[in-house]
Amino acid sequence: MPRTDAFIVRSSDQVPKHPLLKRFPVPRNFGVTRDSRIERGRTWAAPEDAVRTKAFEIYRYDPDGDDNPRLDTFEVDLDACGPMVLDALIWIKNNVDPTVTFRRSCREGICGSCAMNIDGTNWLACTRYIEETGTPAQIYPLANMRIIKDLVPDLTHVLAQYEMIEPWLQTSTPPPDRERLQAPEDRAKLDGYYECILCFCCTSGCPSHWWNGDRFLGPAALLQAWRWLTDSRDEAAGERLDLLEDPFRRYRCHTILNCTRTCPKGLNPGKAIAEIKKMIVDRQS
Ligand code: SF4
Ligand code: SF4
Ligand code: FES
Repeated sequence: MPRTDAFIVRSSDQVPKHPLLKRFPVPRNFGVTRDSRIERGRTWAAPEDAVRTKAFEIYRYDPDGDDNPRLDTFEVDLDACGPMVLDALIWIKNNVDPTVTFRRSCREGICGSCAMNIDGTNWLACTRYIEETGTPAQIYPLANMRIIKDLVPDLTHVLAQYEMIEPWLQTSTPPPDRERLQAPEDRAKLDGYYECILCFCCTSGCPSHWWNGDRFLGPAALLQAWRWLTDSRDEAAGERLDLLEDPFRRYRCHTILNCTRTCPKGLNPGKAIAEIKKMIVDRQS
């Protein structure tokens, strides 16, 4: 019998360097209205002197025009840009079309802002190698989010859900002279949860959030809820569980585990949600 523990990723160090998961390809133009259909856009050829090139199909949407969303194709000069998908996007913006719009900041998998759908899988553009993408590479914004422009999703709703779990240390006992101490073994309980960068790859890939995103908090917010529930310094576990004890906020998770499969930090929101359910059951008994 394999140990189930072996499947639990406790730290992002355990993530294979090149995880290539194609778990939930997003059906394009399936059941959408005529105005929302993604149309074929224009193709931008590579520079004439380019030797190694690769095509990138990129979703474009301009909120200021009346046109449908479209897929533009860009031939990228691989010898003129870095190795990551984000490098290709920056090369396109700098050299071909400055209106291509995406978020990015750290370019090293820390800020979470470059999350997008790459070849059907939610991931960070700065940690996905170009050589791992298909031909053409297909770049879409995160699924199931309102799109502000091109590859930029509107995170207002998911950030409001994050705020709802009150993601800060809450205490009722008088503060000590200096900081609240934590034993190394208690600190270790946060491993696998504190590393969350709020990229929302998991929430965007969660079918339960697609269907009940107005009431189900989604895996990112729930992983964060568990991060505070399991913090030995926090003294608000009862109130936190009261907030989560709701038919939709937490129970809409059906353990499909898309969230865990797509997390680019190798975290396990599915396990965090299971831990919350267990804690609620334990306090009832
Ligand atoms: S395990 Fe739960 S939270 Fe994760 S994708 Fe499935 S339904 Fe969503
Ligand atoms: S759990 Fe993973 S996929 Fe979800 S928001 Fe955090 S880092 Fe991103
Ligand atoms: S740019 Fe910060 S995670 Fe990609």
